[in-house]
Amino acid sequence: MIAGDGLRLRAIERADLPTIVTWLNDPEVRDQLAAYLPMSLAAEESWFEKLPERPREQQPLAIDVQNDNAWKLIGTCGLHEVDWRTRAGELGIMIGEKSEWSKGYGTQAVALLVQFAFETLNLHRISLYVYADNPRAIRAYEKAGFVLEGRLRDSEFRHGVYRDVLMMGILRPEWAAARK
Ligand SMILES: CC(C)(COP(=O)(O)OP(=O)(O)OC[C@H]1O[C@@H](n2cnc3c(N)ncnc32)[C@H](O)[C@@H]1OP(=O)(O)O)[C@@H](O)C(=O)NCCC(=O)NCCS
Repeated sequence: MIAGDGLRLRAIERADLPTIVTWLNDPEVRDQLAAYLPMSLAAEESWFEKLPERPREQQPLAIDVQNDNAWKLIGTCGLHEVDWRTRAGELGIMIGEKSEWSKGYGTQAVALLVQFAFETLNLHRISLYVYADNPRAIRAYEKAGFVLEGRLRDSEFRHGVYRDVLMMGILRPEWAAARK
């Protein structure tokens, strides 16, 4: 488990799957993700069964927040496309529990995962893709230290319109300097 202040990242368990499927089928959540098709619990279970085939550091993580004395699942995040030669990886996150949006949890989870990626996995660079019409996510990534690196024009199509995709990134030296 990766422990933060009132927030933790842990392995996803089978019992989490029904909640995660509910989030993935919520149009407001899904519209900001790469997923665009309705998702069944069976499909999610089959995805879960294959997780052990992935490298451990690229397995998705559950985001829990402390709620009174219990931990509450609010989302998932993870690293993928890790390249050990260039020491680079990509980050993804979903806070599926909409009542928990804009409380700082997304920024905190991203910051925790970035710290883990730099200080434990010894990565040098982390990047991510975000739709240009997702100001909440862009702001959360900026607060965690990511900077805009590029705009992929009209590279997503949904609900009859093309959307721009932004690429953002963070390098370990600039992250370390900002922490001083
Ligand atoms: C994107 C996401 C991870 C952000 O996490 P979060 O906990 O909601 O965000 P935070 O509270 O850490 O930060 C959000 C920031 O955006 C701001 N914000 C929220 N709505 C905004 C809007 N419409 N316009 C501009 N800023 C906005 C908040 O005020 C806050 O900034 P501040 O602290 O400077 O006031 C989360 O909302 C989420 O998972 N959403 C659904 C799926 C998704 O978008 N995933 C990301 C795909 S790239």
